Amino acid sequence: MGDAAAAQAPALLSARGVHKTYSFGAIPVEVLRGADLEVVQGEWVAVLGSSGSGKSTLLHVMGGLDKPDRGRGEICFQGAPIATTHGARLDAYRNRDIGFVFQFYHLLPELDVLENAMLPAMVGNWFPWLGTRADEARDSARALLESFGLGHRLTHRPAQLSGGERQRVAIARALANTPKVLLADEPTGNLDVKTGEGILDLLSERHARGLTVVMVTHDPAVAARADRVVKLTDGRVEVAFEIER
Ligand SMILES: Nc1ncnc2c1ncn2[C@@H]1O[C@H](COP(=O)(O)OP(=O)(O)OP(=O)(O)O)[C@@H](O)[C@H]1O
Ligand SMILES: [Mg+2]
Repeated sequence: MGDAAAAQAPALLSARGVHKTYSFGAIPVEVLRGADLEVVQGEWVAVLGSSGSGKSTLLHVMGGLDKPDRGRGEICFQGAPIATTHGARLDAYRNRDIGFVFQFYHLLPELDVLENAMLPAMVGNWFPWLGTRADEARDSARALLESFGLGHRLTHRPAQLSGGERQRVAIARALANTPKVLLADEPTGNLDVKTGEGILDLLSERHARGLTVVMVTHDPAVAARADRVVKLTDGRVEVAFEIER
């Protein structure tokens, strides 16, 4: 979907005027300086930017894992701010509406592959208002892992897996609750080109079936797999280029 179409449809997920400052002792570092990003239902957006430009920061804020500076920007999902209401809503947003793929996998080393992938769905079991059941969680996580070619690795620990396998587990975990949006931070960042292509093919397949994707990358070749590419420069989001197909 191009910019013209994106401008007409209401945003599914949007960041508006987001500022984010980190403080190292007395020295504040302003990483995001009014970042705006509107993501439309069904779109695959890539956020390109150099190392340290704030891509992970932006994705964390969009995923409700971190907050904008107080009163300086907001994240809206389906038209409503994710953070102004009580905590349960933010929990539900993080657990059910979005799936998050972290830059460095963040798999739990003590759990096996299947347990890692079913974790978000299990959280729904611990907090019943989020509404999922353990057996359903296990079944859907297993089915996802099998579809990602990891059926023979279910009882392995993350440390026993290759980087590409770990990334597939991380993506399976992010998709386990059938989120509306997948936020993926450098999903191919630590992988060789061929393995990375495989991961992008998985995302592409899900996107073709309607999943909205926001993917962060420093690699223009990876970004080119998206429908639309934006660039994070000086703490703001700029239009980078449109993909011609
Ligand atoms: N928790 C934190 N505390 C202090 N500074 C931070 C924190 N997280 C990030 N930063 C700083 O904010 C800046 C942006 O970091 P961020 O991780 O968002 O960049 P990035 O674009 O994802 O980089 P990379 O491509 O290397 O992953 C960096 O200068 C980083 O040192
Ligand atoms: Mg990063």
